[in-house]
Amino acid sequence: MTKPNVLVARATFPDVLERLQQQFEVESNQDDTIFSTEELHRRMQGKDAVIMTSSERLSAEVIAANTHLKAICNVAVGYNNIDVAAASNAGIMVTNTPDVLNETTADYAWTLLMANARRVSESEHFLRAGKWTNWRFDQFLGADVHGATLGILGMGRIGQAVARRSMGFDMQVIYHNRSRLAPELEARANNARYVGKEELLRSADHLVLVLPYSAETHHVIGAAELALMKPTATLVNIARGGIVDDVALIAALREKRIASAGLDVFENEPALHPDFLTLPNVVLTPHIGSGSEKTRRAMADCASANLVAALSGERPPNLINPQVLK
Ligand code: GLV
Repeated sequence: MTKPNVLVARATFPDVLERLQQQFEVESNQDDTIFSTEELHRRMQGKDAVIMTSSERLSAEVIAANTHLKAICNVAVGYNNIDVAAASNAGIMVTNTPDVLNETTADYAWTLLMANARRVSESEHFLRAGKWTNWRFDQFLGADVHGATLGILGMGRIGQAVARRSMGFDMQVIYHNRSRLAPELEARANNARYVGKEELLRSADHLVLVLPYSAETHHVIGAAELALMKPTATLVNIARGGIVDDVALIAALREKRIASAGLDVFENEPALHPDFLTLPNVVLTPHIGSGSEKTRRAMADCASANLVAALSGERPPNLINPQVLK
């Protein structure tokens, strides 16, 4: 029997690839070349399934031209890079990698939150530039984390994991979400209190964004929302570029209308608005929220398991569009 054909569109762990090669005819990309849309389209010809990451975009046009695919397996929890409606219309399964990255990504929200609050990047740049000549009582004074109010916009699994970590800091947690959590989940999330979006913005000392990106969440944080925040507040975005209006955020940071921002994701990444680089009060990282060795492996394994199931006629564990099975 001929083996199914699989495209692994980005570099991955060699042992993960080897296991796939035992079952499938695999075209890999261990050089990690970034394929243009045309190139990706070309390489999908004759493939039964593709493993890809959130950096590759699969538009309705590309999907319509590749209806022979059985499965698109994203190595990410977010899947706004894929036109899922178009895939569903074409009967193509789409899978993601939820849960395995919740705790690592929540850790990272805290990394950025604390770096922001205590001005870690800014003061390290000062030190590296050889500017530290004296200890001063008022040098790089930041905001306290302990005892502060933590605001979370988007209270899914990662948001709840962020909230749980605040217990040790004796924080009050407020959150806004499409729907209110069940009381037992609120209790586990450090007794998180559901509030309207406006109250969240006005009351949070540290605001963390953990929303999935969609047309509805585009620029959910723009100039009007930033204007409601405290001038001492910090903002963390570990979710997706496009949730925040980057131009509005740059203006707010420049004019100190909020204290600082920690950003792991950007509109148009990996290109980022050049003005970010001119601001001292921002911590910038290259979309590494899920980036621990253990979790990236778990994500690669999860995507592989989804692909194996899809090509074996089983229901993939993380199928986003189950309607295609009907
Ligand atoms: C990363 O951004 C993911 O969606 O997993």
